[in-house]
Amino acid sequence: MELRAYDGEGIDSWNEVTLIYNAALRQVETKIEILNDEFQHVHRYNPIEHIKARIKTPESIVKKLKRHGYESTIDNMVRYINDIAGIRIICSFTSDIYTIADRIKEQGDIKVIAIKDYIMFPKASGYKSYHMIVTVPVYLSDRIVDTKVEIQIRTVAMDFWASLEHKIHYKFEGDAPEHIKNELVECAKLVSDLDIRMLKLNKEILAISQKEKEAKVSRLPRGNARAAGGRE
Ligand code: GTP
Ligand code: MG
Repeated sequence: MELRAYDGEGIDSWNEVTLIYNAALRQVETKIEILNDEFQHVHRYNPIEHIKARIKTPESIVKKLKRHGYESTIDNMVRYINDIAGIRIICSFTSDIYTIADRIKEQGDIKVIAIKDYIMFPKASGYKSYHMIVTVPVYLSDRIVDTKVEIQIRTVAMDFWASLEHKIHYKFEGDAPEHIKNELVECAKLVSDLDIRMLKLNKEILAISQKEKEAKVSRLPRGNARAAGGRE
């Protein structure tokens, strides 16, 4: 089978773009759902709160191409727009973000094209999120097309902030009054602080639960303690 890269070659109509990117999006979404299910099964814990997947609208693709000075062709769309297929993963804690990102990177059929860690290096606006551009192979009847998907991973708190900031950005067409921008930066600091404190609290709760379990096991008669010591 012939392997076509994600350079636009082999994708020749808007219908085909939609079909291929939808397929790529579904594959990545399923992979992430499986990771979450497996986490629940092994660790009795869901690292993912929810997932949002979307295909960029044709209008928005054309607008972005124009902004970057490219003609609106299928070739340019596929070559230069990295977020035609986009998936957003919302986690409870910052540590979950890196766990999920690492598990995605380890998958053999996923190729990581780019990573932007706006958690370690937030934007001047205060924006925080972990971004990955990956490709997944889409198997068609006569060829395989490596297709780009943008993955954004963030906490519930970061998502709350980003939604409001996005609304404000749109409302003022990117030119919000200074006091609103400053307030957003302040709110971003509160979000970071909240994420740190919630993570710390969660760790404390987990440690208490672990101690309680150990105490329970040590109170059992010897034979039972050995039996109860297995995986939970
Ligand atoms: P575009 O911003 O999409 O042109 O791509 P880029 O090449 O600049 O990549 P970047 O990783 O900066 O942004 C990709 C996506 O992340 C955007 O399309 C938004 O969905 C989101 N994003 C980036 N920066 C911000 C921000 O300051 N605020 C909000 N609300 N979202 C942002
Ligand atoms: Mg940008």
